[in-house]
Amino acid sequence: MTGIWKYQHLLPALRDDCRLTLGEANTPLVRSRRLGRAMGLENLYFKLETVNPSGSYKDRFAACAVADLLQRNINFCIATSSGNTGAALAAYGAAAGIQCFLVLVDGAPEAKVRQMQVYGASTLMVRGFGKDAVVSKEVMDGLTALARRHGGLVQISAYCCSPAGMTGVQTIAYEIAESLPKHTAHVFSPAGGGGLTLALTKGFRLWKQMSSTYRCPRVHCVQPSGNDTIAGPLKAGLRTASAIRTSVTSISGLQVPNVLDGDMTIEGCRSTGGSGWTVPDELIYECQRELAVKEGIFCEPAGAAALAGVKLALKSKEMDKSDHIVCLVTGHGFKDLVSAGKIAARSDNRYFENARETFQYIESNV
Ligand SMILES: Cc1ncc(COP(=O)(O)O)c(C=O)c1O
Repeated sequence: MTGIWKYQHLLPALRDDCRLTLGEANTPLVRSRRLGRAMGLENLYFKLETVNPSGSYKDRFAACAVADLLQRNINFCIATSSGNTGAALAAYGAAAGIQCFLVLVDGAPEAKVRQMQVYGASTLMVRGFGKDAVVSKEVMDGLTALARRHGGLVQISAYCCSPAGMTGVQTIAYEIAESLPKHTAHVFSPAGGGGLTLALTKGFRLWKQMSSTYRCPRVHCVQPSGNDTIAGPLKAGLRTASAIRTSVTSISGLQVPNVLDGDMTIEGCRSTGGSGWTVPDELIYECQRELAVKEGIFCEPAGAAALAGVKLALKSKEMDKSDHIVCLVTGHGFKDLVSAGKIAARSDNRYFENARETFQYIESNV
């Protein structure tokens, strides 16, 4: 079995013909060549979810969620998304012949929206949705009622809404456990609503149940300081996440102001010994640039947040320099061309009138 279905014994029981794959999962775990050394870390790894078919870890969610729809004979998909869930559902929906209605966060990056449209989905953007907690709740409640009337459910990549799809995300933990069976001390995960981070804690716990010698890593939740719903309360020793009225981060994917899986994520991280880290947007953008220019890893800003969390944790001396540390790099750089453009603008860009001038330039700079 390929894709997430390699772990079908740990996924919901489904008919064989429902389990579709586009080649998601089995993503590389790459050891840092330069950034780790510069930080004094001997064993820093990046889990490259960027290589999934639609460019983010959400393909693991979509493979499972669409399989679940097929099993229930539902031929439409209503979903909310900041971009990546929508792109993934649009891709797997296209493969399954399922019509997708994707209600999008206001201001979702154009490349993500285009990607959904290319797969043939309907993209529906709502003013304030995904930034303003009141509008977001109104949209989610209304969609849930609408979907129910038609015998379906709203796909949101969170356990509180779409538990079937989220079991697909747990496969990230199984892959890390298989790739680094000895001891991974820390896993850093970027968080918006917390579902991804919760999936890791659930996945590692399940893996431990099957293999008693396995030691669960400490799962850390990293959020932008402009949307500190989970990480701050986790760090402060609180039990519940705190919804905020308006999210002010510009990091696509991490701006959801509502507490979706927040409480369970706090409980899950704490049970592994992990903590919460809030990082400024500027540090996330700087990490996005560093991953590209120092490691050759091109990710969207949300995909660089885990590295920003590692930098912060390192300062607080909560990690040993020889610890095995994994950063989840969750989405591809092509997803957000505005942030990519800002990095590119800092590179050496020239236009020459003729070939001779080009050669001269290289001669004098090589
Ligand atoms: C690239 C990326 N990373 C991380 C996340 C955070 O996931 P969660 O909302 O489950 O915390 C998202 C969510 O959309 C995302 O798109």
